[in-house]
Amino acid sequence: MANKQYKTWMLKGGGATDNLQYVQDTRTNAALGPDEVRVVMHAASLNYRDLMIAKGGLPVTQAVPNTVPGSDGAGVVHSVGPNVTTFRPGDKVLPHMVQGVSDDFLPRLDAISGGIGQAVNGTLCEQGVYPAESVVRMPNNMSFAQAATLGCSGLTAWNALMGLKGRAVQAGDYVLVQGTGGVSIAALQFAKAAGATVVATTGKEANMARLTALGAAHVINYKTDATWGATARKLTPDERGFDHIVDVGADATMGQSFEAIRTDGIISLVGVLGSGTNKVDVMTALWSVCVVRGVLLGSKDMFRDMVAFCEKHDVQPALDDETFSLADAQGAFQRLEKQQHFSKVVIQIQ
Ligand SMILES: NC(=O)c1ccc[n+]([C@@H]2O[C@H](COP(=O)([O-])OP(=O)(O)OC[C@H]3O[C@@H](n4cnc5c(N)ncnc54)[C@H](OP(=O)(O)O)[C@@H]3O)[C@@H](O)[C@H]2O)c1
Repeated sequence: MANKQYKTWMLKGGGATDNLQYVQDTRTNAALGPDEVRVVMHAASLNYRDLMIAKGGLPVTQAVPNTVPGSDGAGVVHSVGPNVTTFRPGDKVLPHMVQGVSDDFLPRLDAISGGIGQAVNGTLCEQGVYPAESVVRMPNNMSFAQAATLGCSGLTAWNALMGLKGRAVQAGDYVLVQGTGGVSIAALQFAKAAGATVVATTGKEANMARLTALGAAHVINYKTDATWGATARKLTPDERGFDHIVDVGADATMGQSFEAIRTDGIISLVGVLGSGTNKVDVMTALWSVCVVRGVLLGSKDMFRDMVAFCEKHDVQPALDDETFSLADAQGAFQRLEKQQHFSKVVIQIQ
């Protein structure tokens, strides 16, 4: 790797609104720290978070200047620092978004804002350098592109469904997922693999067959059925409601999520896709007698559990039809922003 120049995307940061630039990676020939691993990145995937950071503007998504963007990626260890015993050159790995934390640490918003792709270097680069403690082994049953979907949206979906002790999704449960973004499709695939019955929504007719092909038992168009939550509830045994709902739309979806949840069921509030539309009264949680759980990413322990689950059940993460090169990452961001994608927008790096 020495003496060869590699390219990377770089965030201008500091409140810039057109934040991305494609530059020579000056880290390429820098010495590796004693506890670091250098990873040749093979694939990355984009998240809504990456888009918000790239667009800049909001204080919570502002980047530290000169940080490599990207929350999700997969690659091969090229070299390791002298103190590293957990990984060797040739190992396939995935970076966790939050560095310098214990294995069971559950990030809150400040930790996410301090994570890779915003405050420390992320994955949209040909080679990345990460603390060895912050990378996990890649599943052995999938491609780099598929594995590059797991670190952010995948882990969030996993935590939503499996993270609350004693309440993990089980065979026979009913699970509701919303739309065809990365989190929702990962949740569909994990819930199906766990033996649950999954009902999915989408606003695009064209996505309905694809959701069915991935195992959704029923698909509802939330744009043509304004009371899709009540419709979904009717699909559960005795109309009892869903055991788990993964809510990605917040204000736009929580009202119907409350209509669909069963007594003591869990609504995992993970997303903000419809924020600012109709504020839902928090008292609705009381009238619905359910658990509303905020979910931000997940711990490294959860990441490893998810990797093992994917191998055991041969989960093959669904990807968008179109793939982008690293140089064309701007095209990938545009596809994500226009919501033209299905599941994950992938950037092939090698
Ligand atoms: N809590 C966390 O740690 C965490 C981690 C990752 C992501 N997130 C958040 O979770 C949300 C989803 O992330 P993502 O990566 O899956 O996003 P994404 O891939 O950009 O999802 C976009 C898709 O969501 C669907 N959608 C949009 N508005 C909707 C609405 N009002 N109701 C139902 N579906 C809607 C659409 O699917 P159709 O076209 O099929 O309708 C759209 O194509 C985002 O707000 C993101 O910031 C949170």
